[in-house]
Amino acid sequence: MKIVLASDHAGFFLKEKIKDFLVKEGHTVIDVGTNSSVSVDYPEYGFKAIEKLLNGEAERGILICGTGIGMSIVANRFPGIRAALCHEPFSAQMARRHNDANVLVLGGRLIGDGMAIEIVKTFLSTDFEGGRHERRLNLIEELSRLSNS
Ligand code: RB5
Repeated sequence: MKIVLASDHAGFFLKEKIKDFLVKEGHTVIDVGTNSSVSVDYPEYGFKAIEKLLNGEAERGILICGTGIGMSIVANRFPGIRAALCHEPFSAQMARRHNDANVLVLGGRLIGDGMAIEIVKTFLSTDFEGGRHERRLNLIEELSRLSNS
């Protein structure tokens, strides 16, 4: 799978661990930074990753900041992006099954590497159930278009 990764300084070390894991698993990884633990602004890196999803270069995204909250706020501003902040695998499973989440967000200051990898595995291996959940996702797009017009 083609996966875009982004983090700020607070998510940098976890991003590197996740990148190693994904490459070992045979995924194609696009890393849009940041490239060190020097302080940067998370919106810039979140946006770089979202661009890759919106232009079709990546199928899924994984964004990491300190809490995951800032990156979630950034990602969910864009139509067609469904970003889920997950702290354990059950949320990641439901984010895929019910919400067809295409972006996983992690809090680099909140979870350990082992937990993060389990969340990523679940996020990448769980299918969307469709049906009534598809109707609800369509409603989100429809209602947000109405509220912007
Ligand atoms: C950076 O200090 C921190 O604010 C950022 O990583 C993130 O947690 C924001 O939501």
